[in-house]
Amino acid sequence: MSGDMRALLCLWLVAQVAQVALSSGVRTRRELGPGLYQHGVYDAGGSYCQRGDVCCHGRDDGCTVPYHDTLCYCDLFCNRTVSDCCPDFWEYCLGIPAPFPKASGCARAGLNYPTGATYRENCNLCTCGPGGQWQCEDHACLMDGELIDAINRGNYGWRAANYSHFWGMTLENGIRHRLGTFRPSPTVMNMNEIHMSMDSNDVLPRHFDAAAKWPGMIHEPLDQGNCAGSWAFSTAAVASDRISIHSMGHMTPALSPQNLLSCDTRNQRGCSGGRLDGAWWYLRRRGVVTDECYPFTSQQSQPAAPPCMMHSRSTGRGKRQATARCPNPQTHSNEIYQSTPAYRLSSSEKEIMKELLENGPVQAILEVHEDFFMYKSGIYRHTPVAEGKGPKHQRHGTHSVKITGWGEEQLPDGQTQKYWTAANSWGTAWGEGGHFRIARGVNECEVETFVVGVWGRVSMEDMPHK
Ligand SMILES: *[C@@H]1O[C@H](CO)[C@@H](O)[C@H](O)[C@H]1NC(C)=O
Ligand SMILES: *[C@@H]1O[C@H](CO)[C@@H](O)[C@H](O)[C@H]1NC(C)=O
Repeated sequence: MSGDMRALLCLWLVAQVAQVALSSGVRTRRELGPGLYQHGVYDAGGSYCQRGDVCCHGRDDGCTVPYHDTLCYCDLFCNRTVSDCCPDFWEYCLGIPAPFPKASGCARAGLNYPTGATYRENCNLCTCGPGGQWQCEDHACLMDGELIDAINRGNYGWRAANYSHFWGMTLENGIRHRLGTFRPSPTVMNMNEIHMSMDSNDVLPRHFDAAAKWPGMIHEPLDQGNCAGSWAFSTAAVASDRISIHSMGHMTPALSPQNLLSCDTRNQRGCSGGRLDGAWWYLRRRGVVTDECYPFTSQQSQPAAPPCMMHSRSTGRGKRQATARCPNPQTHSNEIYQSTPAYRLSSSEKEIMKELLENGPVQAILEVHEDFFMYKSGIYRHTPVAEGKGPKHQRHGTHSVKITGWGEEQLPDGQTQKYWTAANSWGTAWGEGGHFRIARGVNECEVETFVVGVWGRVSMEDMPHK
């Protein structure tokens, strides 16, 4: 065999060995990252070779022990690079001090943690720095114990609570993932308002609850999770109630927000927000199925919405029929529900009340501020409690909800506090069973700025035959 041939064979053998090593899933020294230590010190305090009772006085690639999410070495070969030796290699195996300074570690609740250790303080990550000090991020958190206390101590007319499903989220992510309605554009804002003909002797009751007037036709609040899709949730909620009321309870569909999120994609952004006028256009022209048929699956806001799983075709006279099965094998009824064009109400408190009383729940946009996430009960008004904490703690974003009634409460000083009752889409554990009350007649958080009503499309064929 010539020298060249031998060299080639050698190369071939090395290649085979390397392949075996790769395919067997064993991590070799070469696959390890470039050094286990940051600035020479990562975790100099731990006992690794000692705990595993290994010291190999030659080269041995199997002479390893687990180290965080990788491996460290206790053989003499590691000494060539220093960086992949276990921190206690020198002391335990060679009996000499390690060639880097010992990290001081950080103390917490009577325990010492190595450099690089972390823990979470609500929405902030704290890391043990090289100087032996914890270094914490400084985000504003969605749930803030100080604000909860300040609201409950103050005389604001409502109480705050700590919600465990919001705990650990930043305020920024709360605004980004828990709302999701784009402000209506100026053209939509200038949409002609429908005026209710108000008679001066129209008597509006002091208290009104849609669920009491239309039992079994007002649907319970849903939970949008971390999907910024309140545009779809509030639209489906109002349309569900209105179709039930206008069909006189003959049909009581709970309509599918997911159908809107996945299929109404023209100028809409699914779980990253959407427009109310676009949602109503879809409900009129295409229609949606029930939530049971097309259940909600986008709890965790995904960058790309799941593809549309429902389609419909015209059957004449504007009515439509589904051309796909329910994306859920348990449900067969894929009836399509539609609405008539939505109409905008004036911002007059009395006109909104009359519309609610006569035709059922309405949709409203709501400017949500930091303190609203912590609402538990009472009559909400935005409070100034976050003002002392700096601008990063005072954030707001546009949301939409379903107004279902109104009432008034006598305050201890004899004044009357008027309120709206509305359904949110943060589940029934939030607020007053998923609902909240908010000051009425003062456009609190713009709740009276843009209010929408609609008629269900209910024809004679949908009504019971006598
Ligand atoms: C390797 O270990 C020897 C002692 O056994 C020491 O003298 C030498 O400096 C070490 N090399 C490195 C790179 O740490
Ligand atoms: C809020 O709730 C979370 C989880 O349920 C809990 O860990 C936390 O200590 C609570 N915070 C306050 C300020 O009550």
